[in-house]
This record gives sequence, structure tokens and C-alpha cells, in this order.
Amino acid sequence: PRPILLTRHGESRDNVRGRIGGDTALSGTGELYAKKLSNFVEKRLKNERAASIWTSTLQRTILTANPIGGFPKVQWRALDEINAGVCDGMSYEEIKKNMPEEYESRKKDKLRYRYPRGESYLDVIQRLEPVIIELERQRAPVVVISHQAVLRALYAYFADRPLKEIPHIEMPLHTIIEIQMGVTGVQEKRYKLMD
Ligand code: F6P
Repeated sequence: PRPILLTRHGESRDNVRGRIGGDTALSGTGELYAKKLSNFVEKRLKNERAASIWTSTLQRTILTANPIGGFPKVQWRALDEINAGVCDGMSYEEIKKNMPEEYESRKKDKLRYRYPRGESYLDVIQRLEPVIIELERQRAPVVVISHQAVLRALYAYFADRPLKEIPHIEMPLHTIIEIQMGVTGVQEKRYKLMD
């Protein structure tokens, strides 16, 4: 059976500064992860000639895929991070201080909360539908390099986790989640490439 490998991009400069959204490049640590990921993928998918690498359209995922050689790369807008609308570029603390009502409503119902001029988790789940259809159709392995909220939703689909849990699933940086769909169900392995 073919594996699907899910990973967040390497640590970005905005991750370091604690800012959400944006389109920054990788930090030094993030670049190191990109190299480790490419070694891992090139080994793991050595004889998988039809495998492909899927990223979002944001720099941090494209830069994370950069060192990986030998496979076609596909950019999906549907894999872009949740759009934080007017909060894009802010830290959680700034949102709490400057927009306390928004902060509270998100805390109360993170699944349904929609950022003003942005998206909710439910919106993200909906826009992922074509990606999921295409992933199901693939016969060869796929490496998906995306973002925290998007990967929570994708992972929940394959691991059959309930909707209400999605916004709270742990999705750490610098970790690969390998999903295998076999006749006996879904198997999962995790590889933490950095401490
Ligand atoms: O902080 C990284 C990030 O990918 C942000 O760009 C995004 O808004 C956030 O994570 C999503 O996580 P949460 O839904 O827990 O705020």
C-alpha cells in the first residue's frame, strides 16, 4: 500500500516571532529541517518513481520542499494556511489585547469561528475536498507539505477523528506523519526529525 506523508513546513521566521499567517521564509532551524526531510524522503521513496510532493502556494512550504530532488512538485492553493483575515500577521497576545471579543469567540468555538475577512476551520475543511479526492485517487506515494490548521483537517479525515476535535489536534513542527491505508484500516507512524 502507498503511504501518504504529512508534514508542516520547517519553522518560519513568523513562527519564531509568534505571528500567525504571513508569508515569511524559513528560519535557520527551518532550513535544517528542509534538509533532513529531503534525506528522509529520498530514502523512504527511493524506488517510488511515480511519487509526488505537494505544497501550498506559500513560501515556507515551497522552501521546505526545495532540497527534495527527483520528484515532481505540485502547488495547491487549497493547501494554504487558514486565512486569518484582519488578524493576519498578529500574535495571539495582540489579538487578545486589541480584539478581545474576537479572541473570546474563537476560544469558545474554534471550529466554527471565522476570522473577519478570513476563514474558519469549517471553511478550510470544505476547501480541502478536491485535495482529498485527488489524494484518494493517487496510486503512488504523496508527500504533503502544508500548515498547522490544514494538516489537522487532513489528518482528521484519514485518522477518522471527529469534527469537533480538529482544531485541537496536536500538529508539531519538524515531524512526519506517515499514513498507510491498507485492507485492515489505517496505520500511522511518526518520525520526529529534530528535537
Ligand atoms: O502559528 C502558525 C499557524 O500556522 C498560523 O499561521 C495559523 O493561524 C495557526 O497556526 C493555526 O493554528 P490555530 O488554529 O491553533 O490558531
